[in-house]
Amino acid sequence: METPRGLLQSDASADQVASERSDSVQQHGVDKEHAMLAPFTAGWQTAISPTLIIERSEGCYIYDANGNKYLDALAGLLSTALGGSEPRLVKAATEQLNKLPFYHSFYNHTTRPSLDLANELISIFTARQMGKVFFTCSGSEANDSQVKLVWYYNNALGRPKKKKIIARSQSYHGTTYISASLSGLPTLHQDFDLPGNFVLHTDCPHYWRFHLPGETEEEFATRLANNLENLILKEGPDTIAAFIAEPVIGAGGVILPPKTYFEKIQEVVKKHDILFIVDEVITGFGRLGAMFGSDLYDIKPDLVSLAKALSSAYAPIGAILVSREISDVIYSHSNKLGTFAHGFTYSGHPVSCVVALEALKIYRERDIPGHVAHVAQRFQEGIKAFAAKSPIIGETRGVGLLIATEFTDNKSPYDLFPFEWGIGETFGAECKKRGMVVKVLGNLIAMSPPLIITLEEIDKLVSIYGEALKVTEERVAECKAKKE
Ligand SMILES: Cc1ncc(COP(=O)(O)O)c(C=O)c1O
Repeated sequence: METPRGLLQSDASADQVASERSDSVQQHGVDKEHAMLAPFTAGWQTAISPTLIIERSEGCYIYDANGNKYLDALAGLLSTALGGSEPRLVKAATEQLNKLPFYHSFYNHTTRPSLDLANELISIFTARQMGKVFFTCSGSEANDSQVKLVWYYNNALGRPKKKKIIARSQSYHGTTYISASLSGLPTLHQDFDLPGNFVLHTDCPHYWRFHLPGETEEEFATRLANNLENLILKEGPDTIAAFIAEPVIGAGGVILPPKTYFEKIQEVVKKHDILFIVDEVITGFGRLGAMFGSDLYDIKPDLVSLAKALSSAYAPIGAILVSREISDVIYSHSNKLGTFAHGFTYSGHPVSCVVALEALKIYRERDIPGHVAHVAQRFQEGIKAFAAKSPIIGETRGVGLLIATEFTDNKSPYDLFPFEWGIGETFGAECKKRGMVVKVLGNLIAMSPPLIITLEEIDKLVSIYGEALKVTEERVAECKAKKE
């Protein structure tokens, strides 16, 4: 059979490609046109702009292949809560690797670290007494698992019609089939044949963008709760299984709920016997309790997912906490069916679990929540101070060590800068030039530095932000002048 051209290369040409790549990396510390299908990256990005290859990390800093140093204002995607070089986490992982690098948790086998972490999570989650913990390797798997558990639970209770899940526009719950369906971001659905028909999306709780003229935050929250109830009544409460929400929408643009939102939403959900799922990446917020959704808002979830920051991102892990009511039903239904046929080979991986246990211990011993409360004010105030003065900032919003700036014209959520002006990208590139990495999402930029960041590092972050903003303002002025 003929080999399609370009699919298989001779050894010589493969070697040549490899050698060119390696030269490029050596000369520039960057790789163009690499062999990896890169997550959340457009094809053109790898073609025209070099891929930043990170080789080493230390505290809040990362270093590229040329030794350039960057303040990681994104904490490796909201996850390296304890920075990039915490020796206790490395030690915990190394000791476990030496003792028992892996054993699974299927068929009534498991390892001590997974049991210890399950106990620990149940005991530190204070919003509500939970029953059991199920381990995954990621936030996406955690959300997929939550939905499967909810379906299993309703089937066990003889409610086969009660299956739809309500999620919110602009939310981010991950990228596997179920999680991407739950997510309310159109780019996650487009041309992936998503969302699946088990999901309904309700309002995004973004007050600045969606409130009506003269509407207070409380009135906005009431309107959203009424819209949710109308949706439930239209579909039929006996068809709705659960409502899922991030306490603070993170990856979808750092959106804090309006005052009274969660009280009102929970009342509606409870009234119609609908489970309340909280999807929480435990980093970026002020207090450890708040990171678990327990004291930032008064939330009493039936299921909770926790993701990567659980192990401060040193080892992949996710977990879901399941209420006793649900875990009891799953327990007896699994007896009836002969097994609980759900799990991942690496569920409760012992290395990830010891790292997570150690991370939780460090949060407590070093009072990381207290530290965050101490430094977060300088961070929030420092960044928010630019918003009033800058003509290109529509809104800066955040909590704890999580913040986003949305660039718009005339301070209006509706006057967006044309995408092709590349305003967010200009800001991101100017930060990078000055040694700082931020997240760029169109005309929005977000930051969530490691929770160990010091006041001096915050001052540096704020100062780079200010310089990058100035150049970005000039770029907007240039683009406007050209348009006129
Ligand atoms: C709230 C939330 N849920 C789920 C996920 C998906 O996690 P993962 O990338 O580990 O699949 C994320 C990732 O950022 C998230 O922020």
